[in-house]
Amino acid sequence: MTSPWADYDPANIPSKSDLSELESFLERLPEGARVLDLGCGSGGVSRTMARRGFAVVGVDINADAIAHASGSGGGGRFVVRDLASPKGLRLDDAPFSAVVCQLVLSVVGKTGEREALLENARDALELGGLLYLSASEVSDDVNPAYEKLYRDDFPETGERYTYYSRDSDGCALYETHHFTGPELSALIETAGFELMQLVSKTESSSRRKDQKANFLYATARKI
Ligand SMILES: C[S@@+](CC[C@H](N)C(=O)[O-])C[C@H]1O[C@@H](n2cnc3c(N)ncnc32)[C@H](O)[C@@H]1O
Repeated sequence: MTSPWADYDPANIPSKSDLSELESFLERLPEGARVLDLGCGSGGVSRTMARRGFAVVGVDINADAIAHASGSGGGGRFVVRDLASPKGLRLDDAPFSAVVCQLVLSVVGKTGEREALLENARDALELGGLLYLSASEVSDDVNPAYEKLYRDDFPETGERYTYYSRDSDGCALYETHHFTGPELSALIETAGFELMQLVSKTESSSRRKDQKANFLYATARKI
């Protein structure tokens, strides 16, 4: 099945301006470390890391977003890849010291795609390499609108805490899954990582800035 992200308008790819958790993670890395930005969109996070002196490669399934990132002149190399491909990422620059994956695991697809993404992330890392991953967390405790979305969309998505992110006309754009902490920990550990840290934060939704949502920030090591 084609990903809805392949032809998503690059100007509207959701992102976040608060990168404080990522900044703390980057402080752990040696100067000039090789970092892979998985699901880089138009390259905003990649450029932040390149400015810090890291050797960044960004990958995304959206060719227009990758073209924009390549032409933006902020440093880094950008290539089109499907992160959930069972054939792997086939990147010449691997292995990397670190993989950054921000706001992607919740929107990459079903369980099989999430597992494939983490397998590809692990394959791209050197032994002991670090994974930084942020994902949406179950949020009905801070925003009742999510409780309704989970309930209304369950018959179609077939998965608890999965719903359709929609545009202003109510048209479904892509599926979003909100993780519980134990669920995300288990997924990361099953993929062959040692979980080092899992932080939960209540912030603004990445697409609807006036809405509250919970996010999980995980740091893990390839073992
Ligand atoms: C919510 S955006 C986050 C973008 C960026 N990481 C950031 O934080 O600014 C999700 C990104 O994941 C990408 N994506 C989703 N599924 C993908 C897949 N199967 N392969 C590669 N990229 C994918 C989308 O194209 C989009 O750029």
